[in-house]
Amino acid sequence: MRMALIAGNWKMNGSLALVEEFGRAFADVSLPVNVEVALMVPFPFLEAAGRTFTANSVTVGAQTLSDRPSGAFTGEVSAAMLRECDTRLVLVGHSERRTLFGEDGAAVLARVKAALAEGLTPLLCVGETLEEREAERTEAVVLGQLEAVFDNLDEAQRVRLVVAYEPVWAIGTGHTATPNQAQSVHAAIRRRLAHYDQALADGMRLLYGGSMKADNAAELLAQPDIDGGLVGGASLKVDDFLAICQSAG
Ligand code: G3P
Repeated sequence: MRMALIAGNWKMNGSLALVEEFGRAFADVSLPVNVEVALMVPFPFLEAAGRTFTANSVTVGAQTLSDRPSGAFTGEVSAAMLRECDTRLVLVGHSERRTLFGEDGAAVLARVKAALAEGLTPLLCVGETLEEREAERTEAVVLGQLEAVFDNLDEAQRVRLVVAYEPVWAIGTGHTATPNQAQSVHAAIRRRLAHYDQALADGMRLLYGGSMKADNAAELLAQPDIDGGLVGGASLKVDDFLAICQSAG
């Protein structure tokens, strides 16, 4: 039985006041026992989020990290620094990092390894563009992004990841993948993971991301291979995010 994970990705949004608002809301609510909740906040809010959320059982996550351990890399943040702020999860390979910041397969792999070396859980994002879907290349693209990482890890490292399927055409557009479209890609990812190891495939948490909202989450989360959600816009509103968390139970 895989534990559901609902992870909110605030991207470059939010404020310390919003961290406090979420802290108050989560202190007052009881979440389904089989659901883990995480919030991936901007770097400057990590420490406050750690203080606020640890007591509320919300896992704190970061949105990216450097592939280097330390040194003269102005503006970068290392995995060890994230650990010091009680960060447990970190996004790697989000499509915005791949397209806007030029992170290719090698850069994604290096960041996954840097996170693992410090005991962080990498939440690896994969997904196809609209052109790739229309050219019927969805599985080739998604599985290629998956293999670029998993082929280069050992067995003990692979089990420590979480994977999020985020079709690029669904991110921030309001065009959610249908439950069937999402399920079909999730099943393909799980089948591919079974080539490494059946237990890895059975245990891996696969999240869906892309315009997940309070009114479409339940149907997506009911699919057999969808174990949670990576939520952007709707994670900035307490009520919407809580409703998604509740629908995962
Ligand atoms: O990482 C979450 C994300 O990219 C989805 O964003 O706004 O479509 O839920 P959104």
